[in-house]
Amino acid sequence: MAEEAVLGFLEKNELITDSGEFAVEQGISHDEIVNVIKSLNGFRFVDAQDIKKERWQLTAEGKTYAANGSPEFQLFMAIPQEGISRVELQKKLGDSVFKIGCQQAIKNKWVEMGKSQVSRKVAHVDDNVKAMLVRINDGEAVSQEEIDALKRRKLISPQIWKGYSVRKGPNYAPKRRKPATDLTRENLQRGDWKDLQFKEYNFSAKGLPAEGGTATNADDFPSDGIRGDAHKQLCGKQNLLPQRCFRKIMLRGYQYDWKRDEANKNLLRTHTTAVSSRMLYALAQKPFEAKKYYSVDRVFRNEAVDRTHLAEFHQIEGLICDRGLNLGDLQGVLYDFFSRLGMSKLRFKPAYNPYTEPSMEIFGYHEGFKKWVEVGNSGMFRPEMLLPMGLPEDVRVIAWGLSLERPTMILYGIDNIRDLFGHKVDLSLIKSNPICRIGLQ
Ligand code: PHE
Repeated sequence: MAEEAVLGFLEKNELITDSGEFAVEQGISHDEIVNVIKSLNGFRFVDAQDIKKERWQLTAEGKTYAANGSPEFQLFMAIPQEGISRVELQKKLGDSVFKIGCQQAIKNKWVEMGKSQVSRKVAHVDDNVKAMLVRINDGEAVSQEEIDALKRRKLISPQIWKGYSVRKGPNYAPKRRKPATDLTRENLQRGDWKDLQFKEYNFSAKGLPAEGGTATNADDFPSDGIRGDAHKQLCGKQNLLPQRCFRKIMLRGYQYDWKRDEANKNLLRTHTTAVSSRMLYALAQKPFEAKKYYSVDRVFRNEAVDRTHLAEFHQIEGLICDRGLNLGDLQGVLYDFFSRLGMSKLRFKPAYNPYTEPSMEIFGYHEGFKKWVEVGNSGMFRPEMLLPMGLPEDVRVIAWGLSLERPTMILYGIDNIRDLFGHKVDLSLIKSNPICRIGLQ
């Protein structure tokens, strides 16, 4: 309501001169108006300037006089024509009104104080003090002299009033929609993502405490023996495959010496292929159906960091399971994938993976480096993996694990991976760069 009032008013008028007066005109509390102005100002819907005013407010004593009359007036009115004894007057008025009333009424020359008798000196008096207090309470103007007099008697005290003058801001719109914090599946399905306004990132907000590392099992795959440390493991536990299945793959598939203790060691996962093998295992538990899977997630490696290597990156992993697939299908899918991103120069190099055969590393050409840069790894899952899981013999699985960061470097001419991901990334660049969508030039 208050927000509509502010934005609606500014649609037709240039300025809200005083939020206080505006609140009175709109019949909305000033607090509510102020809250709305602050929030609109934060999003630059409006431009608000502070106004400070010194105002007078009645003290508790001032309030009782505004209601009941000043003590001197009460005292005067309590004295009958013929006069009254002090004792009786004091009893009528109470100690405090009597005491203050006497002081002020004598000063005003309203009353005559005899030894025991009090009488009126004038026929008629006006209660100016009460009238002033009422005017101040209503926010009306009062002369400096009057203010001084009331201040001296501690019937009023100063109060700093804060308000705003408001005009349209750079993001002004007659209506504000609540800024979105997430882009949801529903937004995409409904198509309303186009018109969403997003809340700005709060870079100083504290994140949720991490519950644990992204860990995988040490022995998802046997060590390759060729590159030595196939996974370039860091450290870190989580069995991605049921132990029964491991045993089968390792003992029956690879005829490997498999040790539970070794397999239970913790490590940060080095590739998302652990996720793929889990999906394959799940697939093998039901009558076979052709399937495609993909995952995008963070992986960790024990790498020396340089301009093309990070100790952690994002892996884009995919696999297609169907009868009769071959290496040509894998190459076709990869060409298709990368050329849709705008990268049609690809090369494949034979490679070794303990879980795929054949295997191919994938390279893309970096114009800046004038060099072929590895962008991923791929292959066809070995029967040693697939058969112990229970997949039919003629089922072939083509799969790939790509880096997200490296193709981004190629496509955007970035020559240092640390400019793209990690603690050295320039936040102002992230804030000021327009959002881009790869592949939709
Ligand atoms: N796991 C491989 C890597 O991280 C990528 C890959 C995935 C290779 C699937 C073959 C099949 O390098």
